[in-house]
Amino acid sequence: MVLLSSASVLQLALCCVALLLIHLCAAVPSSKVGFGYRLVSIAENANGGGLIGYLQVKQRTSTYGPDIPHLRLFVKHETEDRLRVHITDAEEKRWEVPYDLLPREQSPPVGTTKPSTAPFTASAEYAGEELIFCYTSDPFSFAVKRKSNGQTLFDSSYGAMVFKDQYLEISTRLPNSAALYGLGENTQPGGIRLQPNDPYTLYTTDVSAINLNTDLYGSHPVYMDLRNEGGEASAHAVLLLNSNGMDVFYTGSSLTYKVIGGVLDFYFFAGPSPLAVVDQYTSLIGRPAPMPYWALGFHQCRWGYQNLSVVEGVVEGYKKARIPLDVIWNDDDHMDAAKDFTLDPINYPRPKLLQFLDKIHSRGMKYIVLIDPGIAVNSTYGVYLRGMAKDVFIKYQGKPYLAQVWPGPVYFPDYLSPNGVSWWADEIARFHQLVPVDGLWIDMNEASNFCTGKCELPTTNSCPIPGSKTPWICCLDCQNITNTRWDEPPYKINASGSHVPLGFKTIATSATHYGGVLEYNAHSLYGFSQAIATHRALQGLQGKRPFILSRSTFVGSGAYAAHWTGDNKGTWANLRYSISTMLNFGIFGMPMVGSDICGFYPAPTEELCNRWIELGAFYPFSRDHANFASPRQELYQWDSVAVSARNALGMRYRLLPYLYTLNYEAHVTGAPIARPVFFSFPNFTASYGLSTQFLLGRSVMVSPVLNKAATKVKAMFPPGTWYNLFDMTNAVVSKDERYVTLAAPLNKINVHVYQNTILPMQRGGTISKEARMTPFTLIVTFPFEATNADAQGRVYVDDDERPEMKLVEGEASYIELYASVRDKTVTVWSQVEMGSFILDKGLLIEKVSVLGLQGNGQGLAIEVDGEPWADALNAHFTQTKSDLMKVEGDNKRSNM
Ligand code: NOJ
Repeated sequence: MVLLSSASVLQLALCCVALLLIHLCAAVPSSKVGFGYRLVSIAENANGGGLIGYLQVKQRTSTYGPDIPHLRLFVKHETEDRLRVHITDAEEKRWEVPYDLLPREQSPPVGTTKPSTAPFTASAEYAGEELIFCYTSDPFSFAVKRKSNGQTLFDSSYGAMVFKDQYLEISTRLPNSAALYGLGENTQPGGIRLQPNDPYTLYTTDVSAINLNTDLYGSHPVYMDLRNEGGEASAHAVLLLNSNGMDVFYTGSSLTYKVIGGVLDFYFFAGPSPLAVVDQYTSLIGRPAPMPYWALGFHQCRWGYQNLSVVEGVVEGYKKARIPLDVIWNDDDHMDAAKDFTLDPINYPRPKLLQFLDKIHSRGMKYIVLIDPGIAVNSTYGVYLRGMAKDVFIKYQGKPYLAQVWPGPVYFPDYLSPNGVSWWADEIARFHQLVPVDGLWIDMNEASNFCTGKCELPTTNSCPIPGSKTPWICCLDCQNITNTRWDEPPYKINASGSHVPLGFKTIATSATHYGGVLEYNAHSLYGFSQAIATHRALQGLQGKRPFILSRSTFVGSGAYAAHWTGDNKGTWANLRYSISTMLNFGIFGMPMVGSDICGFYPAPTEELCNRWIELGAFYPFSRDHANFASPRQELYQWDSVAVSARNALGMRYRLLPYLYTLNYEAHVTGAPIARPVFFSFPNFTASYGLSTQFLLGRSVMVSPVLNKAATKVKAMFPPGTWYNLFDMTNAVVSKDERYVTLAAPLNKINVHVYQNTILPMQRGGTISKEARMTPFTLIVTFPFEATNADAQGRVYVDDDERPEMKLVEGEASYIELYASVRDKTVTVWSQVEMGSFILDKGLLIEKVSVLGLQGNGQGLAIEVDGEPWADALNAHFTQTKSDLMKVEGDNKRSNM
């Protein structure tokens, strides 16, 4: 027996700009020959700080178009840990990610400042608190160095910089010690750590997630670089804020960006811990959206719930099987002929749907439906008519761009247009009057189009062909567009493979948005702009915290939406891939992420579905979803899966206060909910590539079975004591051993909690609304046989109805939990911020479990403020710091 004492509780309570020559910068090599640019002047930016420099092309080349002759360099330490390096055409304004979409400091306007004649040095530095910008003038190159250890984080002298209208190229040299993460969206069979020579193409594309190392639904041109030199790890991140398509080549010793437009707008984040990196990153791109409490419950969805009775049956099925379920979803089945914001009058009649919603809402359950961006071209459809009247659609040669999605011919709303945004909000409000949904799922927003190029309605057939079983086969009359440099750019990124046009099965790249913005430039912003518009609409409408699930994402999407990893397959390999993609999205500032549990298609085996719910129960976003052609795969469909689900989701529901606290921490610091193990153990280099296990928060580690027929799992344990969260009896004490083989029978998943933790749990339940009102248990973990150790934890609670997730008196409480063991006495106490909320709600602590004390636990005496523990049951969290309880006696762990 490991532990365990249980007791009740009473009280729980710019930088300076400087141009200097120093040795750190002197290392940047310089060669006067060759291609690239020469720095002709550089000076402090009088207006707003930073440096402004001018560059002149050295030798003109014609591959991929003419070079832009003069560039403007702008460098600024925007904060003490963030450096920006922005390079653009000195004379003409170029496309860049709109500042109103992603609010940030403006770069100075181009064309207004003349190149300064101020004296400048051929090699110099511009230092911030931790990062140093070094440059060399001929050819121009720059390096970013870390002051504290002298490391070179980025060094563009690796190759000549190229800057053409439709082709930008820049490289950095990388040391072998660099472990890189990010650059997505991408299904990475090699795991979370970027693999040399794997292709990373970033361009939002509707291609199933089963495609490995190709462009997928989202574009996140950011990577984290974790280095361990001399036993001391440090991490930093590099964002190239650019919405144009790009190929990124990583060789292991260098990384090269090949971008087809826009500007070079680099942001460097100093870290040095992985958590500091995501904090700094999300402070720029927007903090992750707060999720409502119920969103952390379990979700069931399926494409192909043909009518409302089927949906009702699913909710009953879960209830009967006593499997937790908070949210029931409809794909497009509720729609009338796949048209957004409509109801199928036969299969989803409104009065019955409203009755159903009343019923589930009264139990605390929620309902979410899908919408696609494609608006059916149909003169009897109000949504379309109002859109036409407000001129909200993306244009091609002056007319709405015609595409095809599920309803047949469609136009795509332009979410960069103010009219588009207000029309969308109005349509959502109208729909909400019709059906009081609790959230929206925005799908197909890469944007996905079943046709390519310039299309017209077919003259002979109707489209889609009535009764067709393959409505996704393009039936419009279409031609590839070959006469523009946008549709056929000089450099073809590897989007959808290099053999197809850039506009393959999406909007033609020469189509235009509001203000003449080319789809070529804004393509990868489509899903992002739709998420922003949808968020505004829901927030304005409900006065509640919106829940949005978006397939396509860009830098900053996490501030508005959750994400799932798209169309995966019910295979063991896809089960495994889901971990890396999920962990990457945590780094991208989108912590609310998960994969279709049991796989989207074709049909999972029973065993796989067991293992998938065991893992999926610990995805931040936990949803079972399947394709219409797959057999039904709700968790109660197999007895054995139901057992695994009750077990794993049962634990999730007991952990909801922990998950909700992680949701709060994600919102205020960007910390991923699910994170790679190295986030808590950055010096443990063995974990740098670990992609089969992950952490929830700082100290809960999930080690799933990912192989067929396995009944054991070989799991890596960073040094320290790890307690099995299910039995709280077995523990792993890891010293040097890296892997431990754990029993993992079919219905069991291994979840461990690390030493020095206080984990807040509740009793659980089958609906989060009920679970969150049950009394708390605190699990206090000390290192094995500790006599002198500390533990810490935290809990955030609020009513989750407010749009904001903020500590406001009476509306939220935040409790820091502390425990220590000294000389066989355990003391637990708390510090409460804004305590009235939790007191008003009457939330109680019924139990404290202390794990890891020395001895066998017999003769344990517990005191709570001088009282025997039994008298102290049902304690409140309080605002005072006081001794919570004293544990005298011993207990110990008997086996590993
Ligand atoms: C594609 C989505 O990825 C999938 O989840 C959904 O079921 C289908 N669209 C149908 O709406």
